[in-house]
Amino acid sequence: MSGAVITGANRGIGLELSRALKAQGWSVIGACRKSSSELEALGVEIVGDVEVGSDEGATVLAKALEGRSVDLLINCAGILQSNSLDSLDFESMRAQFEINSLGPLRITSALLPNLHEGSKVALITSRMGSVSDNTSGGQYGYRMSKCALNIAGASLAVDLRPKGIAVALLHPGFVRTEMTGGNGLIDATESAAGLLARIDELTIDNSGGFWHTNGEELGW
Ligand SMILES: NC(=O)c1ccc[n+]([C@@H]2O[C@H](COP(=O)([O-])OP(=O)(O)OC[C@H]3O[C@@H](n4cnc5c(N)ncnc54)[C@H](OP(=O)(O)O)[C@@H]3O)[C@@H](O)[C@H]2O)c1
Repeated sequence: MSGAVITGANRGIGLELSRALKAQGWSVIGACRKSSSELEALGVEIVGDVEVGSDEGATVLAKALEGRSVDLLINCAGILQSNSLDSLDFESMRAQFEINSLGPLRITSALLPNLHEGSKVALITSRMGSVSDNTSGGQYGYRMSKCALNIAGASLAVDLRPKGIAVALLHPGFVRTEMTGGNGLIDATESAAGLLARIDELTIDNSGGFWHTNGEELGW
């Protein structure tokens, strides 16, 4: 059975990715800081205390997976804290870098021994990290942290290509979750279905691409 690891699996898009992958027959490992009754109800393997903003959190996950093969790693955990130009909060911006930019890189790096030729790494980013798409400004910490994640993903695609590991940067859409206060255009189930379709289409040849969950290729 193929093995998938998802961070931020306890709620939101990560939970729906876990549910959909389990339904597809994957062996799912839901990584989270603290589990939820919804995640437990899925009957998947759960690894707790995976704080992606700390090296210790990555070590917890690496230790739990020692010696095991990971075919798909989805870095989904993330935070959004609003920062406008007239109320910049640099601590909040640093926290978003730590979790949104360094977190997925830290987790991917910690699981490198588990990845193999044919494995896939998905980074759940945001079109808010796209420079060419930024026509509305603001959201300094979130936009900057996702932009940094995008360039990390581009480097990962280059560095992991010789190992046969493909990397995708994926925007989940505007999704009704806690992050958006329940606002959005689609539910997390629809977002997860699209994200998994994009991951299905991911190959070593198109590695390093940036796609919307609906399949649209996004500008950097
Ligand atoms: N919703 C949207 O419209 C939208 C749009 C573009 C991109 N995204 C991206 O999609 C991803 C999932 O977002 P969502 O909408 O599902 O958000 P959400 O409902 O707020 O869920 C966020 C998830 O990330 C986890 N998380 C946050 N900080 C963490 C940390 N330091 N260490 C480990 N886990 C942490 C949360 O766990 P806890 O319960 O422990 O906090 C939760 O599982 C994020 O990367 C987000 O930036 C979302």
